[in-house]
This record gives sequence, structure tokens and C-alpha cells, in this order.
Amino acid sequence: MFRDKDNRHVVSIRDFLKEDLFDFLGTTGVIKTKQGTYKETLTGKKMARLFYSDSTRTYETFGEAMRRLGGEASLGFRNIQGTSVKKGESLKSTIHMYERYGADVIVMRHPKDGSAKYATDVAKKAWIINGGDGNNEHPTQNLMDIYTIQEKQCRLDDLTILFFGDLRYGRTTRLVYPMSLFEGNKFIFLSHPVVSMPNYIKDFLKENGTQFEEFSDPKMFPELINNCNIAYGSRNQEERWAIEGTTEGDEIRREVRNCVVLTKGIINRAEPKDNFIVMHPLPKDGKYPCITDDVEETPYCWYEQQAENGVYARMGILYSQFGVEW
Ligand code: CP
Repeated sequence: MFRDKDNRHVVSIRDFLKEDLFDFLGTTGVIKTKQGTYKETLTGKKMARLFYSDSTRTYETFGEAMRRLGGEASLGFRNIQGTSVKKGESLKSTIHMYERYGADVIVMRHPKDGSAKYATDVAKKAWIINGGDGNNEHPTQNLMDIYTIQEKQCRLDDLTILFFGDLRYGRTTRLVYPMSLFEGNKFIFLSHPVVSMPNYIKDFLKENGTQFEEFSDPKMFPELINNCNIAYGSRNQEERWAIEGTTEGDEIRREVRNCVVLTKGIINRAEPKDNFIVMHPLPKDGKYPCITDDVEETPYCWYEQQAENGVYARMGILYSQFGVEW
């Protein structure tokens, strides 16, 4: 993808080959360590951000990344209130309007699975970046997470990653796709069965020969932490839970919310490996977090560094995809 001038859309992390990931890591590393590099690369280019569902980090970091590369990011909306989407305007029509207003690249977040792919089918000239489509994917989060892992662990292979929390609706856990490209990586999944890792992803891992284990008992937490290099939490995506609204749903919701929660006490009962970190794409749920705030008192909490890397990683993505021979 990164080398394909005729297809610069960023829709699925599965489109990225290992060499594309290394290109991205190299570019992002230069951007972070030599601030100001590539600063005029996107002068004259315009980004539209079409956010049909809520965001802080993805919306802001794409705007900031575009500005730091010399481009503009003034077009678009960060929620649909007050837009003609509320009058029933189709995604296709909205995309065509923003193309007419000069958008060269459109970053889109949408509640429907597959909407980013659909956008690439209807766009006439703008390149589409998937900023999260329903329960499906959030490829640029995966890329910034890979950057953070490489930065902290100094490698992308021979790692064991414990994914915990809502693995079914948490699209950032699709990080397993690119991480399975590297030798020796293993995954541990810890979740309530209602929000366990979807079968189609487990089937992919089996076909790929990638090792994984699955657990649902939170008492296993300290032992699982001892066995991993990274613990990656995924917020309960209550806004997307299919069980929402029913009586049975209310009971299950209560059970799921309180099932897998990482605390400082759990970490203190474990003996983490060197370089062990706790990652989380953020936001944390303030009421029912999958990681309690006291984890921030440990040296392992790494999600603010992870979030900061969002700016550099999105600059890396924009430069790699659009900075050359546009
Ligand atoms: N991690 C992430 O996508 O955050 P936002 O929902 O705030 O964009």
C-alpha cells in the first residue's frame, strides 16, 4: 500500500505488508526524533475530517499531523449535529461535496462496519483514511501502537501480548493482524465470554499458525501478566454492544463491566518481565474502566506515551502515503 501510488487509501491494516510497516516505522521515527522534518511536504493539500461518531484523539491528531506537515485541515465536522447528515444526506453525497470543496484526503470515522471501504468505492478523487468503522477496524491506531511497541521493546518479534477487556467490539485489538506478521509472537486473550475475540479472527490466527490462548477467569490476571511483555486493555464498547436495551442485556452488561479489570493490586501480585508495559488506546471509561486509575502509579502504565505517538504516527502515515509524487 505504502508504495502504491494508484491506491493510497488506508482502509484495513491487513493491506499492510511487513515492509510497509518497516517503512512507516522508519519515517515516523525520523519525524519524532528530528522534529520539523518534512514540515512543508503537504503544503497546498487539504484534509477533510468527517466524523460520524465521537472522537478526541483520532480527530485532533490527524488535524495536528496535517498542519505540522504544512497542509490544511479546516474542512469537515467532528459530529453530525448541525450537519445535513441529520437531514438524511448520504455518505456518498457528503464525500462528493467535500471533494468539490477541495479535499485531497478524507479521514472518516463512521459507526457502520465497512463504511470506509464503501467510501473508497464512491470517492472520485480524494484518498480515504479509515479513522474507525464500527466494530471492524481502526488501522491508524494499530500503526501507532506498533510504533509504540517497537520504541519500548526495541523489537516486534518474540513478544507475548495479553489482550484483555472487550475484544469483540474493541476494534483496536485487530492489532493481532500486523503483529502476527512477525516471528514468534503469541497472544493471550482474557475477556468475559460475551465479548471474547471473534471467531473469524481466531480462525485467521489458526490458519496463519500464530499461537494464542484464551481465558475468561480474571483470577488468572497475575499469572498471565508474568507471561507477557505487554498487557493491552480494551474498553467495554457499550455504545456498540448488540445486547444493549434488553433485561437480559442489563444483567450481562453488569457482569461484563466488572469481569476483567486490571488494578495496581493485580500488578503488585505479579512479577512483570523487564520492559513490561500496559497499553490502552484510550479513552478509558471513567465509570467502569478496564484499568483502574491506580495503575498510573506503577512504572508500567504506557498509554499516555502511546497516545502522544498518535501525532507522530499520523504524520508518518500522511507523509508515507501522500508526501511523495502526489
Ligand atoms: N483511541 C482513539 O481512537 O481515541 P478517540 O476515540 O478519542 O479518537
